[in-house]
Amino acid sequence: MSALEIDLGPVHLQSPLIAASGTVGSVVDFARVVDFSVYGAAVAKSVSPEPWPGKPPPRLAPAGQGMLNGIGIQNPGVTAWSDEVGPRLTGIPTQVWGSTVANDPAGFAEVAEGLTVAGVAAVEVNLSCPNLGGKLFALEPQASAKVINEVRAATDLPVGAKLSPNAVDVVAVAAAVAEAGADWVVLTNTVWGAGFDIETRRPKLSGVVGGYSGPALKPIAMRCVWEVAQAMPELPIVGCGGVRSGADAIEYLLAGASAVAVGTEHFATPRIGRRIVADMGRFMKSEGVSTVAELVGGAVPW
Ligand SMILES: Cc1cc2nc3c(=O)[nH]c(=O)nc-3n(C[C@H](O)[C@H](O)[C@H](O)COP(=O)(O)O)c2cc1C
Repeated sequence: MSALEIDLGPVHLQSPLIAASGTVGSVVDFARVVDFSVYGAAVAKSVSPEPWPGKPPPRLAPAGQGMLNGIGIQNPGVTAWSDEVGPRLTGIPTQVWGSTVANDPAGFAEVAEGLTVAGVAAVEVNLSCPNLGGKLFALEPQASAKVINEVRAATDLPVGAKLSPNAVDVVAVAAAVAEAGADWVVLTNTVWGAGFDIETRRPKLSGVVGGYSGPALKPIAMRCVWEVAQAMPELPIVGCGGVRSGADAIEYLLAGASAVAVGTEHFATPRIGRRIVADMGRFMKSEGVSTVAELVGGAVPW
């Protein structure tokens, strides 16, 4: 077993680094620019039961130390996605996870079933898309549990629940999805944000409010990881938000994550994964750490 291998609940990862959903397309169409062999898993963009057109432009804007996005999950729907992407999944040098999104629990389950047939290795449940009007399931423990229950019944694959930093009580939501059968939680999706252009006086996004990601999200997502890890040490966690370096990834491990996802940084540096993993390896060697598992939850109290 190599030093970077790690178990995330029932899933064995060749590396603790995961490519975050929505930042590497459907994975298969990024395989020429991103070296997926350094990742433990790569998560495809979320897919809905029917095709969704997404929001009109502008849908992406730089803001402060990060990025606002209000794409609205533009995607071809699960049938077209499976026909196009399914047959190409086998050539990718890491496991590809699908991501399901919908307006109701039955829709999430329908997509999970389709993704399973298409051949993904696990299903991530996007309970936390910030661009679906009032339907942010991850604000509510019961609404989130209902979705996970239906997805759990629709697939035998491992299931991860992607939660939101906007939840008032992220620990309660994590407990509810774990109880409903999620094998791990992803902490977190983007946080709600907005911005305005002072010359045109227009909002930076057509939908005004969107998801904010990048370096400024890191301490916010880290707090969620810490709180959930403290409350439920047995629940595996994927840390996600603002990762750009090996040091960022190690920080998430110390807070209690078993794996770490990188998202926005892919847009600036598509090959960032290789550098992050190399940095992690160097840190572990210099600290005499022989496995990633030794770092998980390894923060030292004052
Ligand atoms: C342009 C863009 C599109 C995204 N699309 C999705 C998506 O389809 N499904 C999802 O679960 N998360 C989506 N995300 C959220 C990311 O997967 C990630 O959780 C978030 O950006 C925080 O990580 P980061 O700061 O490393 O980007 C998207 C993020 C961005 C920036």
